[in-house]
Amino acid sequence: MTEGRDMLRSEHSGANDAGVFRSHPATISRSVSAPLLMLVVGLGLPGTVAADQAPVQTSATAAPVASGQAGIVARGKYLADIGDCAACHTASNGPKFAGGQYMETPFGPLSTPNITPDKATGIGDMTDDQFYRVLHEGIGKNGEHLYPAMPYPWYTKVTRDDVLAIKAYLFSLAPVHAPRKPSHIRFPFNIRAGLGVWDTLFLNVGTFKPDPKASPEVNRGAYLVQGLGHCGECHNSSRLLGNAQIAGRLQGGQIENWYAPNLTSDVHTGIGKYTDQQLVTYLKTGTDPAMGVAAGPMAQTVHESLHNLTDADLQDIVAYLKSTPAEASYHPSIRSAFTGSYPQGEEAYLTFCASCHQPDGKGLAGAVPALAGNGTVMGKGPETVIRVVLGGIEAQGSYAPMPAIGVGMTDQQVADVTNYVRQAWGNAAPPTAGGGEVGKLRNDTHTMLNFTRPGGCPELVQPALAKAIGDKSNGIGDALRGVTPANMFQTISAIIPKIREAVPGVQQADIVNGLTIAYCPVVAADTVPEAQKRTQLDEFANLVYSQLVGNDQQ
Ligand code: HEC
Ligand code: HEC
Ligand code: HEC
Repeated sequence: MTEGRDMLRSEHSGANDAGVFRSHPATISRSVSAPLLMLVVGLGLPGTVAADQAPVQTSATAAPVASGQAGIVARGKYLADIGDCAACHTASNGPKFAGGQYMETPFGPLSTPNITPDKATGIGDMTDDQFYRVLHEGIGKNGEHLYPAMPYPWYTKVTRDDVLAIKAYLFSLAPVHAPRKPSHIRFPFNIRAGLGVWDTLFLNVGTFKPDPKASPEVNRGAYLVQGLGHCGECHNSSRLLGNAQIAGRLQGGQIENWYAPNLTSDVHTGIGKYTDQQLVTYLKTGTDPAMGVAAGPMAQTVHESLHNLTDADLQDIVAYLKSTPAEASYHPSIRSAFTGSYPQGEEAYLTFCASCHQPDGKGLAGAVPALAGNGTVMGKGPETVIRVVLGGIEAQGSYAPMPAIGVGMTDQQVADVTNYVRQAWGNAAPPTAGGGEVGKLRNDTHTMLNFTRPGGCPELVQPALAKAIGDKSNGIGDALRGVTPANMFQTISAIIPKIREAVPGVQQADIVNGLTIAYCPVVAADTVPEAQKRTQLDEFANLVYSQLVGNDQQ
């Protein structure tokens, strides 16, 4: 194979004796079985710690490893440790790699799948090509687009050899029977087809290419950081659609309310201020006197992943981080995908609208209308668009409800995004909206969805629905009165079949709007701030819709 790929092989491959690593003296001491330094920090590390102790309910014993396979399996284990596959694919107290952990994502709570070799519920019948496609392109076994909560935007850099070594390791383990738990993905993200548009625009599929000007050590470090290590998942600054890969690079990011610092060589805000040895010690043990103690997600990353790495790999990671250009702060540079002439409008569109209407303005078939080529959008004046953004729209036909998204935007942002959608994708309406006009329209756009309707919540007009919801015997009214953000998903799941039973043939949009109207007074009477009431009502309408159209649509 190419020299580049040989360069990426770790010594455990047993196949790179003639590779570039010869020039790296430290690699001689690399070994998977190198004694591990004890993790000095005793922080709350759930997940695998408990999982290792949990009784593993295996349905069969692990397949015996053919002797030639032993090397590849050991290498695969080492690589799976670097990728920290167990962190997500293991539930607390659950068997390792059997999935079942819930991840909080921008799409809603997503359960991780079982990646043990169980044929019925795991990956036991995945071919090499299918497995490689998951890691390399984010495409599942049945051709579905995976959520970027699985770090394929990083794993795409990993060589096919390394990916297949990980597969060999996983397939050497005992299969565990563990069906996937239901995910509670919110609209529009439950429609997986929409993920494809984002991948097309923002995912850079491609194996790592070594920089011919950099040393083998720096290239090995870059391969680990940008690939299996997926450091940018936490340390990148912007996380558009949960995909941090596409934006800032290692310039600091936010994860689960923790700040993951800037990892570029910048001497003020980055790692430039630490010595190589301090960094290696920190990555290996989670603590260094000069750097302090890793807490939160980094403690877990060190414990489950980095402390298993050879010193040579850690030194290479540090060599690479030290070689990165110093970047003090993050500057968005994602506009290349857009062609319009309103940068502020593009920014606002990406932030507030593109999740539903899609970056290309084409919407989601049957669920969200296209704005590209849309006559309403290109109407004579900008008022309609502004009013829709400020007031939202209830569900109609097969369409979802559109939230009153403009409530959380400034007048200028609403004007900018209005001009943008009237001009982008070949739309040719004059960009005349201004902040002042938006301010005036804001004062007299009163809808239930923006929670400014005079006289409070509207009345439910469909008699059959009103009767079903008012009927004490079916418990729907009581269930609605008991809805909280925490039980919303479960409550809605329980109510929908009752409504369908009480009102045969009821239309989808009528269920969405009817239940939202019935829930409105409940949330209105709550003591939370106005902004939170509106979010809760949005969330409710959205969840009803996403449950009706079904989670996990292809
Ligand atoms: C940050 C969390 C996270 C990490 C780390 C992670 N995964 Fe995943 N993985 C997921 C999620 C979430 C899904 C499901 C995505 C979806 O349903 O769209 C998934 C899906 C998969 C699938 C598809 C399974 C199927 O049945 O379709 C495979 C295979 C997989 N991961 C393997 C791995 C391997 C191998 C590693 C380590 C190199 C790894 N994952 C690391 C979160 C993670
Ligand atoms: C799951 C999220 C996550 C991943 C993945 C992750 N980190 Fe971190 N990292 C953090 C957080 C959060 C902190 C801050 C920890 C703290 O303040 O205690 C941190 C801190 C650090 C620090 C200390 C920086 C300083 O200025 O003190 C270094 C160095 C570091 N990470 C390197 C890495 C490398 C290299 C990788 C990839 C191999 C990586 N991290 C992967 C979340 C993560
Ligand atoms: C949560 C998903 C979602 C978001 C976010 C969203 N929309 Fe919508 N939008 C919809 C849906 C669904 C409809 C159709 C509603 C209906 O007719 O029932 C719609 C309708 C519209 C319409 C009316 C189109 C027509 O043909 O009548 C416009 C204009 C519009 N949206 C603009 C925007 C803009 C601009 C933003 C960002 C500021 C935005 N939308 C954000 C889902 C969304």
